[in-house]
Amino acid sequence: MLRRDFLNFLGKVGVVSLPLGIAPFGLLNSCSNSKKTNDLKRLGIEPSTEDNLILIDGLDYEVLCAWGDSINNVDYFGYNNDYTAFIPIDNDSAIFWVNHEYPKPLFVSGYQGGLKTKEQVDKELYNVGGSILKIKRTQAGKWKVVKGDKLNKRITGHTKIPFYWDEAIFGKSAAMGTLGNCSGGVTPWGTILTCEENYDAFYGEAIIQDGERTTSDPFLQYNKYYDNPPEHYGWVVEVNPLTGESKKLVALGRFMHECATIQELDDGRLVVYTGDDTNNQCLYKFISDKPGSLKEGKLYVASLEQKKWLSLDINDNEALKEHFKTQTQVQIRTREAAHFIGATPLDRPEDIDIDPITGDVFISLTNNKDKGNAHGSILKLHEKEGDKSSLEFDYEHFLTGGPESGFTCPDNLAFDKKGNLWFTTDMSGYLVGVPPYESFGNNGLFVFFRSGPHQGQLAQIASAPVDAELTGPTFSPDGKTLFLSVQHPGEYSKSLKDLSSDWPDKNGAIPKPAVVSIQGPFLDSLV
Ligand code: FEO
Ligand code: CA
Ligand code: CA
Repeated sequence: MLRRDFLNFLGKVGVVSLPLGIAPFGLLNSCSNSKKTNDLKRLGIEPSTEDNLILIDGLDYEVLCAWGDSINNVDYFGYNNDYTAFIPIDNDSAIFWVNHEYPKPLFVSGYQGGLKTKEQVDKELYNVGGSILKIKRTQAGKWKVVKGDKLNKRITGHTKIPFYWDEAIFGKSAAMGTLGNCSGGVTPWGTILTCEENYDAFYGEAIIQDGERTTSDPFLQYNKYYDNPPEHYGWVVEVNPLTGESKKLVALGRFMHECATIQELDDGRLVVYTGDDTNNQCLYKFISDKPGSLKEGKLYVASLEQKKWLSLDINDNEALKEHFKTQTQVQIRTREAAHFIGATPLDRPEDIDIDPITGDVFISLTNNKDKGNAHGSILKLHEKEGDKSSLEFDYEHFLTGGPESGFTCPDNLAFDKKGNLWFTTDMSGYLVGVPPYESFGNNGLFVFFRSGPHQGQLAQIASAPVDAELTGPTFSPDGKTLFLSVQHPGEYSKSLKDLSSDWPDKNGAIPKPAVVSIQGPFLDSLV
């Protein structure tokens, strides 16, 4: 679909661009007061292609932890930090979780082509998964990693992780490792949900055609040394940050999970929203049967046309029962089941966050090049009567990306204490400066103000180093520190001698993904 047609399509399904001059996060009946996207005023820093983490005046950063930093006697911080989570211990200390999504083989294992060695594969497997860190606030108010603390540990591509399900998954009760760990969530009981996204790069994807199963060839070649089936990946993994004990949550389905955003209902049951980040894939929600467990319950998928959540329980759908032999098959081949029952293909549903004031659910739709949608949008979903267990909803496109609005390809979302919506962008590094992205500079961090003097306006707060993406924004509970992952700086470096970035060490050093802590009067003014 051409961009123009896409905009027309959005018009037909009731898009509003930017509801300026009114409470911008209000309910859907505010649509009649909405204005066009090009009325949006863009504040903050100018787009930049500089190889630095540039911040708006009034903010400074320091590196909290960078790839390769030692965290205890045996372990070091993994590669490509993404989602972060802050679990308070007391006022001045916390457990800090970080996802490590995927390796860049040139930097991580020194791989330069041909068949990888087992040693290289093992090194790369070590660098994905997650890190658990104890962090502490100094007297000067800065957060630091407590190196060597007994809480510090790594979960990697080698860690044995059981499936939280009564049947084996492709013949086994546990998987080797977690990988593709993109975004995530935190449960009300303080465990981490880490999401396996682009797992097909590691062990390929299972393809079922005419009853025959084959597997695709994975880019990273891990299948050359480990006979792990693709079906063991593509899950949401729950991690106890105190012990590192983990389990793969089969009940939440298997696909390229971007995130898992959880909400507790009044009766203690849980609702988890999760998106499948691939062109024309879907948005899901899981409703648990009981409090405190993400094992028993039902998975649903969204139909925007019907404004309904459709059940993926084979006992609720005769057609599904004929197509799949067991519920376990549905959980493993969730995408196929979702399309089979008429779910809506979306424009790469990525991160999801819940408005702390209205309870509405915000979903980043990054882009969909197959449909000519280069810039994406942020969808706002309102469950019927605000009830997260409802199977009916309404929705609108809350913000639409493009040169007029000053941002493109929205990805990770976070609300601050005042309910302002922060988001990062995710253009692939090779697209920077290339039409239709030439006006945006490097990837950035933005805030859309809900109230105050800039209500209804957008400000760019940060610009990423070359080839990097800013991911995993997390506010400390007092709102005075923003933790942010700087992921894949220098990703398109051609060789170790021809680097596209040398952030953060500079002076020609190999670029390193790192988590930074950001503080300053600009944040202080928002608490
Ligand atoms: Fe790993 Fe969809 O971003
Ligand atoms: Ca992401
Ligand atoms: Ca992304």
